[in-house]
Amino acid sequence: MHIRIFENREVASAYAAALLEQTVIHQPHPVLGLATGETPLPLYRRLAEFHRQGLSFSHVTTFNLDEYVGLPATARESYHAFMEQHLFQFLDIPSSHRHIPNGLAADLLAECRRYDHLLQEHRIDLQLLGIGRNGHIGFNEPGETLSANTHVMSLSKSTRDANARFFETPDAVPQKAITIGLNAILESRHILLMAFGPDKADAIAGALSGEISTALPASLLETHPNVTWVLDREAARLLPESIGR
Ligand code: GLP
Repeated sequence: MHIRIFENREVASAYAAALLEQTVIHQPHPVLGLATGETPLPLYRRLAEFHRQGLSFSHVTTFNLDEYVGLPATARESYHAFMEQHLFQFLDIPSSHRHIPNGLAADLLAECRRYDHLLQEHRIDLQLLGIGRNGHIGFNEPGETLSANTHVMSLSKSTRDANARFFETPDAVPQKAITIGLNAILESRHILLMAFGPDKADAIAGALSGEISTALPASLLETHPNVTWVLDREAARLLPESIGR
């Protein structure tokens, strides 16, 4: 486990972008796990810049972590639209190489199985993760149990409140999402979790406390041999002095 603490999110994102660039340059068929939310935006801007400067992503395959249930891919708030707006339109990844769960599938269970099947065929080389204020990863919410495979998750009030800023009204935030499970995340060769800002400090301190609990899903990352935690000072502020400084 590596914990890197940076002055601010721009410098942290430059570090994360350089790690991702290495994967894209050196792997013949890199498989990237992608995240949504505000956290990866500076990283995605850097990837677009890399592409403008000549880096090709045409050999890359991507898997997004999750998608809201009930939103069409064309809805502005969907993660399909988010990825197009913030990343895919700027890169040359063939559309057939980009995977995002279909939140409008008539049979959601079949959609979950379809996504797991694809994930089994493509082990993720580098999985990007953000973290929810309650310690969720993807949309794996805290609870008495966690799911191994792709599943439909009922979103907690705190997650819906946190994501309300992306919707016109808080009530418009969907109640459910499809998310990949802990299996696919933990089977990734390398995990890069990014967390910025004071709202993430509690979740980061809990995740790195040494205790593993389904009440804080990100704590399960402590069982993985190759996780890089990319933090800014605010997100790292509750960590013991001895960590990462
Ligand atoms: C959503 C996403 C997560 C993301 C989290 C944090 O719940 N499903 O993948 O990590 O939000 O978002 P943000 O980066 O906006 O704080």
